[in-house]
Amino acid sequence: MMRGSNKTTRILAFASGKGGVGKTLLSLNTAVALARTHLNVVLFDGDMGLANVHVLLGTQPRVTVADVLAGHCQLAQTMFAGPEGIRIIPGGSGIRDLADLPSGEFGRLLQGLQDVQPAPDYLIIDTGAGIGSHVTTLVQLADAIVVVVRDEPASLADAYGLIKVAHTELQCKAFHIVVNDVNDLQRGQQVFTRLQDVAMRFLGLPLTLAGVVPHDNAIADAMRRRDCVVTAFPDSRAAAAIRRLAGELSNMPIAPVDNRFLLDKLGRRREVAMP
Ligand SMILES: Nc1ncnc2c1ncn2[C@@H]1O[C@H](COP(=O)(O)OP(=O)(O)OP(=O)(O)O)[C@@H](O)[C@H]1O
Ligand SMILES: [Mg+2]
Repeated sequence: MMRGSNKTTRILAFASGKGGVGKTLLSLNTAVALARTHLNVVLFDGDMGLANVHVLLGTQPRVTVADVLAGHCQLAQTMFAGPEGIRIIPGGSGIRDLADLPSGEFGRLLQGLQDVQPAPDYLIIDTGAGIGSHVTTLVQLADAIVVVVRDEPASLADAYGLIKVAHTELQCKAFHIVVNDVNDLQRGQQVFTRLQDVAMRFLGLPLTLAGVVPHDNAIADAMRRRDCVVTAFPDSRAAAAIRRLAGELSNMPIAPVDNRFLLDKLGRRREVAMP
């Protein structure tokens, strides 16, 4: 949790290990679904080199994290308004320097999240694929990791790999699983059970099923319109599932961790590294 002047922000990081399983789609739509329930939500595109959130919305941000790193503006000044009043902090796209940003500098960049005013109820973070240093830094910042999996062996294996690293090396404890792109709820529950069994057996770690999102052509239709499925097709199966997911995530208990400490540490690492 991050405490602003008068309020606590819950931080959720969407991660998956494997790429292309629906992190960006679900983080954006979950952010919008939470905002529809009158919560103040900020969505941070943490996929530094290949940012996608603004692409899904068909917008070209005026300034991005690249401008922050160049010293042209502060992170909070890059925010632009998205659907339902969510505020979006865009990542940079196709910029190798951003993708390769050393952890110290990335940490310093993240410090800027503390300056976002008014402090949101939720900070939703979309992370990139893999378990590189940007992803591990972002999941450490989160109160809970929302792990997105698809019904395929490589997705399950990579989700387990991510959970293992986050749990054993980074001491992350709360893992909320979303099974995405399945035909029905029952199949989603089976996929969750498989992941849960492995996590219990090898890590002694219980997982939570946060939601099952069906395969739905409304998602591709909304994307073609550069819109969110929860706003473009609110009656679709996918939109209903994402609203349920947002409800589950907002009901979950959050351990009282003050992430200011971590943000401080991230910032200090940079200062130590400076000549
Ligand atoms: N439930 C679903 N039904 C239909 N299509 C889906 C569903 N979920 C995701 N998709 C499709 O899968 C594609 C990948 O989604 P998305 O870009 O959100 O994945 P990602 O995990 O963010 O990928 P990356 O790791 O590259 O960042 C999108 O084109 C999206 O349309
Ligand atoms: Mg993505």
